[in-house]
Amino acid sequence: MTSLSAKHFSIGVCDYPEHVPAEDWQKHARLQQSLGLSWVRLAEFSWAKIEPAEGQYQWEWLDNAIDIYAQHGLQVVLGTPTATPPAWLITAHPEILPVDENGQVKKFGSRRHYDHASETYRVHCVRIVTAMAKRYANHTAVKGWQTDNELGHEGTTVSYGGASEARFPLWLEEKYGTLNKLNDAWGNAFWSQDYTTWQQIKAPNLTAVRQANPSHKLDYQRFCSDMIVEFQKLQIEILRSVCPEHFITHNCVIFSAECDLYKLAEGLDFVAWDSYPIGMLEFFATWESEQVKTEYARTGSPDLVSLNHDLYRGLLSQKHFWVMEQQCGHANWAQFNPLPADGAVKLWTAQAWAHGASSVIYFRFRASHFAQEIMHSGLLKQNGQPDRGYHEVEQLAISDFELGESDNRIAVVHDYESLWSYNHQPHNQDLSYWYQFVLFYSGLRKLGLTVDIVHPKQLKQRNYKLVVCPALTLLTPESARSIKEMSDSAKFIFGPRTDFRDQYGKAAEQGQFQQLKSLIKGQLLNFDSMRPTLNQTIISSKPNDVQHQGRLWCESYQADECQTLYRYQGGPLDGQAAVIESHSAITVGALSESLIESVIKQQCKSLHIPVEDVSLPDGVRVTQINNKQLLVNFNQHAISVKGQELSPVNYKLV
Ligand code: GAL
Repeated sequence: MTSLSAKHFSIGVCDYPEHVPAEDWQKHARLQQSLGLSWVRLAEFSWAKIEPAEGQYQWEWLDNAIDIYAQHGLQVVLGTPTATPPAWLITAHPEILPVDENGQVKKFGSRRHYDHASETYRVHCVRIVTAMAKRYANHTAVKGWQTDNELGHEGTTVSYGGASEARFPLWLEEKYGTLNKLNDAWGNAFWSQDYTTWQQIKAPNLTAVRQANPSHKLDYQRFCSDMIVEFQKLQIEILRSVCPEHFITHNCVIFSAECDLYKLAEGLDFVAWDSYPIGMLEFFATWESEQVKTEYARTGSPDLVSLNHDLYRGLLSQKHFWVMEQQCGHANWAQFNPLPADGAVKLWTAQAWAHGASSVIYFRFRASHFAQEIMHSGLLKQNGQPDRGYHEVEQLAISDFELGESDNRIAVVHDYESLWSYNHQPHNQDLSYWYQFVLFYSGLRKLGLTVDIVHPKQLKQRNYKLVVCPALTLLTPESARSIKEMSDSAKFIFGPRTDFRDQYGKAAEQGQFQQLKSLIKGQLLNFDSMRPTLNQTIISSKPNDVQHQGRLWCESYQADECQTLYRYQGGPLDGQAAVIESHSAITVGALSESLIESVIKQQCKSLHIPVEDVSLPDGVRVTQINNKQLLVNFNQHAISVKGQELSPVNYKLV
């Protein structure tokens, strides 16, 4: 690992010198320098430009570009160009191409057109990454590397044929050893699915009735995730040995759901992610209402953005991270792509810093006048004139952004295997792992709480007082152990469906909470997946307390050696427990924003964790940083909160 650890917050930009005439490079670098930028990220899609035919390298253009940045005091992050294998390589080795869920081989003509398991592709990646690393190992301006680009993004984690499908049986054999074990683990007694040879096992697509076994799907997802991790590891090994002084990072995707990012992050010096707050709300947050999407159409939603910051900071145990691509104008890939509100670029930058970013890199410098991203903006317009984002970056006062370490006492637990399992059988078309996760995360943020997002295995790294597990539906024995180890020192809040499945994705034979029975001390009675037009009333065991309404999912419990805090009123679950509490855990069975918020609030009070008496107004959030608070206002109107006046789309450090 390099010893790089940031001392100051810095900003930079993604640049594509290969997209503009070389005569403009000097001028661009001068503007970048005068904007106060420290970094440029380069070359992540430039394979065909660097190696136009196999073995024929053309480095001069990139050498010249890097020299020009260097002359202007800019430091360079190079992307390994493996997200875009060139046409000549695909022509020579079409077997590199991935296969979609309908069994169709994907075609050349965009990006990410490769199967991570392809040995042929890996050989070529090793070659190009080694050549590039050797070329720039000693260039003084080059400081670090981004591996590939957004690994697994745009539905490219899983390939349903080719090299992946061929390797899957080997991966399974290594994992299970015998087919009996696999048949048992997957429950293949069901629908006569027992396998008698490893080679019979294929990718879980195109099954006759399109309902593949969820345990089969889970293992295929794990396998494809492992292939990405393995694929990246090859690059990390080369970069470490050829450029030992350089840092290595990777730019993860918004609400990434495909690859186990805790595994992907191992071996990186720090994590980065790509933040597009407007598209995030419009495109990824399928659960949000039209009203919310309209209100925050020009800023994105504060909780969704901060959740991603907290998630990526957590991958490497709360280390500073980078935003490798920060939206700085309108994007092009969501259903609608509004212009950001005035002030949004500054607001996003400040929020990223408060959540632990040490660098924010804007995407991109000059808008492209060709190809897929012709409709995307940059700091400069296509004609080279400054665009709106440029002027905002000009006004940024980054010297206010002093780097600090977070020291939070509340953990929110996240796990990719639960995510996959939940989403493979949501049992309600409006439910997803992230939806349920966001309900709990927002409940915390509305109360003014700053939190860490962690994997169960990271729980013991900090002395957490409160641990919230929104959607931990699948528990491996290791995760269950990590949770149980904390049960003397922390209080847990679990969401619905907790500990419902074992490591193979099967429901526990003894019923829900089999692995956490020492903490939860209740039993599942029923679960109810409700259509959006149904509601379920929930009442408190305390007299005269407010009622809540459950939506989409309510499950009820038999309270064995625990207390019932809330119960259902009316409907099929009438009278049954909705929220139960034992010594170390509260389990919430219903999805209800107000119920979740009030459970968190009561619990914080009893643990002496300071919370807001009145929830923060919508669009306003607070983050603790360096014994100060960053207040953000994502609303397009001024608002007065905590004795402070916040102007529209703005922030204040108090
Ligand atoms: C990102 C991607 C960039 C660019 C950008 C456009 O997801 O990494 O290459 O496509 O989106 O918003």
